Amino acid sequence: MSKMHVKMTVNGKEVEALAEPRTLLIHFLREDQQLTGPHIGCDTGHCGACTVDMDGKSVKSCMTFVGQSNGKNVTTIEGIAHPDGTLHALQEAFREHHGLQCGFCTPGMITRAHRLLQENPSPTEEEIRYGISGNLCRCTGYQNIVKAITVAADMLNAQEAAE
Ligand code: FES
Ligand code: FES
Repeated sequence: MSKMHVKMTVNGKEVEALAEPRTLLIHFLREDQQLTGPHIGCDTGHCGACTVDMDGKSVKSCMTFVGQSNGKNVTTIEGIAHPDGTLHALQEAFREHHGLQCGFCTPGMITRAHRLLQENPSPTEEEIRYGISGNLCRCTGYQNIVKAITVAADMLNAQEAAE
């Protein structure tokens, strides 16, 4: 199959490459761009380990062709921390409140939670559970993930109020 010229912004940086349009975004990110934060858990759109943000929406990059990502703005877990390297409130809260065990789901979970808090800065527990329902975790039982997202929401709201 002939290759297409793809151009997109990934974590704030413009990237260009030649790729077959049917290449999955997860493979483009992991293999071409060396961004191995997004994980491949199922390859069938169920687990959410591959979740990235694309133009303001959470997408499963194992279900997205690179051709569909052309010209888009993509953020992976590598782009969530602050530019100076300090952790985002969600990353801090997951660490402090045991929101991870093996960590396999964590990049997708945090990337999804990051978008969720932009969609709804003060979600209820039920809204958090619904909001992350496309992301599976085999280790934690979700309790501490929900707690971490709640704490991060409070931290971000307090920061915003102080500004
Ligand atoms: S690897 Fe994409 S949803 Fe599981
Ligand atoms: S921390 Fe292991 S799958 Fe979620």
